[in-house]
Amino acid sequence: SGDRTKEVDYASPNRGTRVRVYGRVHRERKQAQVLFVTLRDGFGYMQCVFTGPLAKTYDALTLTRETSMMIMGEMWEVPAGAHAPDNRELHADYFEIIGKAPGGEEAITNKVQAKGDAQTLLDMRHLVLRGETASSVMFVRDAVEHAFNTAYHDLHYVKVSPPALVQTQVEGGSTLFSLPYYGEPAYLTQSSQLYLETAIPFAGNVYCIEKSFRAEKSLTRRHLSEYTHVEAELDFITFDDLLTHLESLICTVLDLVFANPRIAAMLKELNPSFTLPSRPFKRLRYADAIDWLNEHEILNEDVEPEGSPPRAFEFGDDIAEAAERKMTDIIGVPILLTHFPAPIKSFYMPRDAEDDRVTESVDLLMPGVGEIVGGSMRMYKYEELMAAYKREDMDPAPYYWYTDMRKYGGSPHGGYGLGLERFLAWLCGLHTVREACLYPRYMGRCKP
Ligand code: 4AD
Ligand code: MG
Repeated sequence: SGDRTKEVDYASPNRGTRVRVYGRVHRERKQAQVLFVTLRDGFGYMQCVFTGPLAKTYDALTLTRETSMMIMGEMWEVPAGAHAPDNRELHADYFEIIGKAPGGEEAITNKVQAKGDAQTLLDMRHLVLRGETASSVMFVRDAVEHAFNTAYHDLHYVKVSPPALVQTQVEGGSTLFSLPYYGEPAYLTQSSQLYLETAIPFAGNVYCIEKSFRAEKSLTRRHLSEYTHVEAELDFITFDDLLTHLESLICTVLDLVFANPRIAAMLKELNPSFTLPSRPFKRLRYADAIDWLNEHEILNEDVEPEGSPPRAFEFGDDIAEAAERKMTDIIGVPILLTHFPAPIKSFYMPRDAEDDRVTESVDLLMPGVGEIVGGSMRMYKYEELMAAYKREDMDPAPYYWYTDMRKYGGSPHGGYGLGLERFLAWLCGLHTVREACLYPRYMGRCKP
């Protein structure tokens, strides 16, 4: 509980003072006369030392990992040459076992390490999360979400909470999860964007951090069925304002995250080679990216119909995951990839004034992951949007509330969505976005 932090001042441990701590046994090491226990409580790890008769009690001799307990004693500085978290240890003079954890066959180490394969580890995710690596990713995730909230509030953006149950699609029909809704059809939202746009007229710049859902029928390192989407809409802006905002937001969030010493230390462990991106980010137009891919002899492996041989990229091709990742890894810095052709982008994206083939759209690509942000300006003229529905063969009726935003005082606005798990995969150097989730959801997995 929060009260416990008053008893142990983690910033400057009151060495020599008596404390009482609660936690779980993260590690224990029995020596002839001494028992060392590393206690874990979420705030951190504390080395506790049991000596004399206390180390010889039945409970001390049979103590197992993950047992929850209370320990009382005095805070000491560790002797020179010895090591303990934060250079301090608790010399125990009293303890109570609160919840015993099993040893032997059922011990946590056997549960999570016995078969080290990925599926077992995912089935045992609830226990894996107690480990240092998995839990530190969760702590970083908490810090990153907090940093986004701080960054937006410092910019006076208003946070709103759009619904997850919807009757419209945002990013095309192929990845919609549908469900019965009191006899009517409904979907789990793919993005909160359309609802965020409708909040602009009362709130100005707005953002949300909500779940988005995609029925992704393939298993990749960066696709989830349920992910956390950081989305924002900016009012009265130009496309260039959007790009500048994005790069500044990412840098502000990173500065806030690294300003926390505990989190910075975790990130150093997780991803020692991470370097802060420098501003301005590299900007690359889609058409130039196509040329770049061809110059580097990276082929399009995603050719229709399925099974066709790879070929050189052509203007109009979607740059799929494999090619995008190769390009991003070679370039090695964040890339604002802009001006995608209209046919491969969403219905709401306006055309570029100079080149009618392309849209005012942007993806932010990061080394090791590829796309972490997708954004664009939004059509804000009524006739333009009506024509877009028609072109895409969409029934405008369910979108009346979205269309009304253009009818009742439209404004040039734009926004984006950032996949929080992809951001974390980049920041923490994770192999897959699954490691950035408390309990990942993807095709074939809906437990624990
Ligand atoms: O590029 P996307 O599909 O764009 C939108 O949904 C826009 N409506 C967002 C907006 O403008 N408000 O998705 C945005 C981001 C991607 O760049 C990616 O980071 C993440 O959402 N994303 C996923 N993350 C994990 N698993 C998936 N299946 C994802 N699909 C998209
Ligand atoms: Mg996208």
